[in-house]
Amino acid sequence: MNILILGSGGREHAFALKLSQSKKINQLFVAPGNAGTAKIATNINNNPTDFIAVKEIVLNHQIDMVVVGPEAPLVEGVHDFFLADKELKSIPVIGPKKDGALLEGSKDFSKVFMEKYNIPTAKYKSFTSATLEEGKAFLGTLNAPYVLKADGLAAGKGVLILDSLEEAKAELEEMLSNQKFGAASSTVVIEEFLDGIELSVFVLTDGKSYKILPSAKDYKRIGEGDKGLNTGGMGAISPVPFATEDFLQKVEERVVKPTIKGLEKEGIDYRGFIFIGLMNVNGNPQVIEYNVRMGDPETEVVLPRIESDLLDLFEGVANQTLHEKSFSINPKTATTVMLVSGGYPEVYEKGKVMTGFDEVTDSIVYHAGTTVKDNQVVTSGGRVMAITSFGNTIQEALDTSYSSIDKIHFDKMNYRKDIGFDLI
Ligand code: AMP
Ligand code: GLY
Repeated sequence: MNILILGSGGREHAFALKLSQSKKINQLFVAPGNAGTAKIATNINNNPTDFIAVKEIVLNHQIDMVVVGPEAPLVEGVHDFFLADKELKSIPVIGPKKDGALLEGSKDFSKVFMEKYNIPTAKYKSFTSATLEEGKAFLGTLNAPYVLKADGLAAGKGVLILDSLEEAKAELEEMLSNQKFGAASSTVVIEEFLDGIELSVFVLTDGKSYKILPSAKDYKRIGEGDKGLNTGGMGAISPVPFATEDFLQKVEERVVKPTIKGLEKEGIDYRGFIFIGLMNVNGNPQVIEYNVRMGDPETEVVLPRIESDLLDLFEGVANQTLHEKSFSINPKTATTVMLVSGGYPEVYEKGKVMTGFDEVTDSIVYHAGTTVKDNQVVTSGGRVMAITSFGNTIQEALDTSYSSIDKIHFDKMNYRKDIGFDLI
């Protein structure tokens, strides 16, 4: 089969590497891809939300299936675009249509959905500029800390957690009346604060049956000890030690099954990944959020642990035969450490020449923000590379990732030296 992957990050390099190992792969394309995907696939420099350009690629290269990495093309309706086009409608897209993508595209939609199908989540209410005063009054009925969420996509920045009631009221006003996050905050969800430990569970579904993929924990803050600004993710670990069999059983019964059933009842034909952000509150799962794609850098520890042929699983998703597919997971621990540009997630420079990564033999080097310039690999983004290793323990896997990192250099390279600190 000829496959097109949309996206350009470490997640997409991980998809490309896994799919390149499939018995069923013929040609592999990534749009736009990075310097890592260029080594194992053909990069095509197109924006994944330019659907007309995507169509051209699909027709020019006889693509048999499209795998969507990031959320934006899904929320903007790439799957619907395919279904509505005579020449594209028989080509499967891995990723939900617009209706299913609302689970990530609208926090309010996902809260209504969870409430309707009895899926455990924080208590909440939604407000608009017309109900700003009610929103302030509602905040007054809650205890600190206060959780405010912009309804729409806000590049991972739309959630505020505030200790003071006054500040929470002021921020609510900023979001609703002054469009702090643009149209994304024209509706704001205010919810109860959940006190626990976070983890993520990933599900692949064909709309009827599902496979639960390995769980993972990511490290979102830039600074050691989980301090400082939020990033896209600085590292990840899979499996998560506190996600015991008993806990995962609860996740399956209380969250996964009602989610799949609920989508079916809503008439949403969902084919793709569901990324469930969870809080473990005293041994019980509460859903923080849904995403309609895989996580980055979680993919860089989840996919390497999947032993089954990923393309075979995707065919199951496309044909609704996922239940027939064999599925096995490597029991070893995988860790990944993200190398980032100095200054990220604020201002940083690009175009730094990278060396040493070709000498890494004990880890998998997933490229993220890299590109080729004058025959050299140079940085092209904030998150640059994810270095994934296996081990019998978290410590063993991390030791390997960090010794691989010692070989890699670029000007102002930064990374967290304490990934997994809370689990060891
Ligand atoms: P989200 O964009 O929904 O993933 O939220 C960003 C982060 O805010 C999450 O990863 C959690 O760490 C935190 N968060 C979101 N909702 C809550 C909540 N109700 N209670 C505590 N922390 C939360
Ligand atoms: N690492 C978090 C995310 O992909 O949303």
